[in-house]
Amino acid sequence: MATTLSCCFTLALFMVILMATPSLSLDNMNVIDKCWRGNPLWRSQQQQLAKCSIGFAGKMINNIGKDVVKYKVIDPFDDPLNPKSGTLRYGTTMIKGKVRITFKNSMTITLQRPLLLSNFTTIDGHGVDVHIIGVGCLLVYQATNIIIHGLRIHHCKAQPPSTMMDAIRLVTARKVWIDHNTLYECQDGLLDVTRGSTNITVSNNWFRNQDKVMLLRHDDGHLRDKNMKVTIIFNHFGPKVRHGYAHVANNFYQWWEQYAIGGSMSPSIKSEANVFVAPSGVGNKEVTWRKGEKGIWKFYSVGDVFKNGASFSKQTGVGGAKPNYNQEQNFKVVDARSVKKLTSESGVLRCSRSLIC
Ligand SMILES: *[C@@H]1O[C@H](CO)[C@@H](O)[C@H](O)[C@H]1NC(C)=O
Ligand SMILES: *[C@@H]1O[C@H](CO)[C@@H](O)[C@H](O)[C@H]1NC(C)=O
Repeated sequence: MATTLSCCFTLALFMVILMATPSLSLDNMNVIDKCWRGNPLWRSQQQQLAKCSIGFAGKMINNIGKDVVKYKVIDPFDDPLNPKSGTLRYGTTMIKGKVRITFKNSMTITLQRPLLLSNFTTIDGHGVDVHIIGVGCLLVYQATNIIIHGLRIHHCKAQPPSTMMDAIRLVTARKVWIDHNTLYECQDGLLDVTRGSTNITVSNNWFRNQDKVMLLRHDDGHLRDKNMKVTIIFNHFGPKVRHGYAHVANNFYQWWEQYAIGGSMSPSIKSEANVFVAPSGVGNKEVTWRKGEKGIWKFYSVGDVFKNGASFSKQTGVGGAKPNYNQEQNFKVVDARSVKKLTSESGVLRCSRSLIC
C-alpha cells in the first residue's frame, strides 16, 4: 500500500513538474503573439512577424520578401558622422531599400545623435537583450513601413542642437508598428506621435516608470493631425491625445500619477475593454484628463474595468467613435477580464536558449 501510494505520489509530482515547465500556451497569448509565437516554424521564418500586426498599421507586408536586405548588428559603437559597417546606424542609414536589422548578441548602444529610420526598415531585437540609450533616441521622420520590435529603449536625453529626448518619436510617419518594446526613464516622453503621422499600431509594449508616457499630438498649424489614426492595444500604460483618433483597447493601466488617458484639441478616443487600476491613497482616481473648451470631447468608454476606485468621465453616446477598420486592420477586442493575462508579457520578451519565446 505504502509503495503504491508513494509511487502515485511520485507520478503526481512528476506531472505537476511537467505541467509547471514553462511552455508556450496559446491560450495565454493575445491575437498578435499567437500569430507568430504559435508558429512552430517561427525560428526559420522570423520575417513572418510582419504579417501579425493589426489595427491602423494594417499588415506590414511591405517589410517582407526576397528584396529585403538582412543586416546583423555586431558592433554597439555609434558614429553619426561616419557610420561604421556592423553598427546599428550603418544599418538604418547606409543600406538602400528594404532592410531587416537584427543583433548578433546582447548589447547596449549609446547613441550620439537621434537615430533616423528610413523607409522599409525593420529593427528586431528579439532573442537578445538590446538596450538603446543616449541622445535621441529613435526618430521616424517622413518615413513609412517601419517595424520596431523587441528593444529596450531608455535614458534618452537631449543634446543641443537636437531637442529630441523621447524613446521613439514619429514625425509625419505612416504605417508604423511598434511592438514588444520596453521603454522607460527618458528625459521627455516615451512615445511621441506628431505632425501628420497616421496608420500607427502600438502593441504589447511596456511603458515603465514614466508619467508622460505617450503623446499623440498636433503641433499648431498641423491640421493634418486631425486625420491621425492610432491603435493602442495590449500595452502596459497609455496615451494622451490631441486631435486625431485613438482606439485604445485591451491595455492594462496601473497607478498613473496625473491621468491615464489625456486629451486636448478635440481628439476622439474610444477606450474599449481596458483595465484601469487607480493609484492607492489620495492619488487621482480619474482616468481621463482634458484641457481646453468644453463640449467637444469625444471620450468613450466601452467594456472597461475600473479598479481601486478608478473613474472615467465619459461622453454620453455609448459605443461612439468606431474605428471603422478595414479587413486587414480589424481584430476582435477581448473581454477586459482577460487583459491582465494577455498583457502579462508586454515589453521585451524574456528568452533563453532552452525556452522558445
Ligand atoms: C520615404 O519615402 C518617401 C517617398 O515615398 C520620401 O519622400 C521620403 O523622403 C523617404 N523617407 C526616408 C526617411 O527615407
Ligand atoms: C492609411 O491606411 C489606409 C488603409 O490601408 C489607406 O487607405 C490610407 O491611404 C492610409 N493613409 C495614409 C496617409 O497613408
